[in-house]
Amino acid sequence: MILSPSLLSADFARLGDELTALEAAGITWLHLDVMDGSFVPNITFGPPLLRSLRSRSRLFFDVHLMIEQPARHLAAFREAGADMLVVHLEADRHPQRTLTEIRRLGCRAGVALNPGTDIAALRWLAPDCDMVLVMSVNPGFSGQKFIPQSFAKIRAVRELLDASGGEHVLVQVDGGACPENAAALVDAGADVLVSGSAFFNHPPYAARHEAFQEAVRHAGTAAGETRCAQAAQWQPCNP
Ligand code: DX5
Ligand code: ZN
Repeated sequence: MILSPSLLSADFARLGDELTALEAAGITWLHLDVMDGSFVPNITFGPPLLRSLRSRSRLFFDVHLMIEQPARHLAAFREAGADMLVVHLEADRHPQRTLTEIRRLGCRAGVALNPGTDIAALRWLAPDCDMVLVMSVNPGFSGQKFIPQSFAKIRAVRELLDASGGEHVLVQVDGGACPENAAALVDAGADVLVSGSAFFNHPPYAARHEAFQEAVRHAGTAAGETRCAQAAQWQPCNP
């Protein structure tokens, strides 16, 4: 399992130090929640912040775009240092074209689904994806309660990907993940867990990272471990 801490729950007054602390704790991915106040009720940050962080960090930047018509902004986020761009199925009329464009820019490509969105379209998008993000809360805020039917959805996504030529595609789960539900999430098919509040509110980070990893030590499948090992080879772009 790859743990991708969500920057949204970090101390925004000292972000550079937070990144240094994450790297010292053995963290390799950073989840960056971009919100536009339209697709979701909240507003966070954009490319200028990514650019500043990129100059300080070798973490793999997993960028979750909670914005309308994300295709308008792909190049700006790539140039600012995104390594993976994840767009919402609900925010884009042409997700297949957008995923193709993300890869053309040299980024890994992901598609995200809100809790109420059906998974059927993944059958046709799987060949163009590196990751599917299953939202286990409604996007907009950290610290929300995990939606329990997400377990069945994660299972269904994994089965659909495996049946659609997407055996290599990672499944990421975002919202309400914690050490207590991590094993069940990985058993359901999660490869990457995003954690905001359950990670940053429990320092020291090295011990918290270990708590997540210990929780999933006997969970998941060999295929999931292989997917994570391959993703661990993905290099961040040069700061
Ligand atoms: C929610 C964001 C999440 C959020 C997760 O819209 O996409 O990444 O930061 O926070 P927790 O882990 O606290 O639910
Ligand atoms: Zn997110």
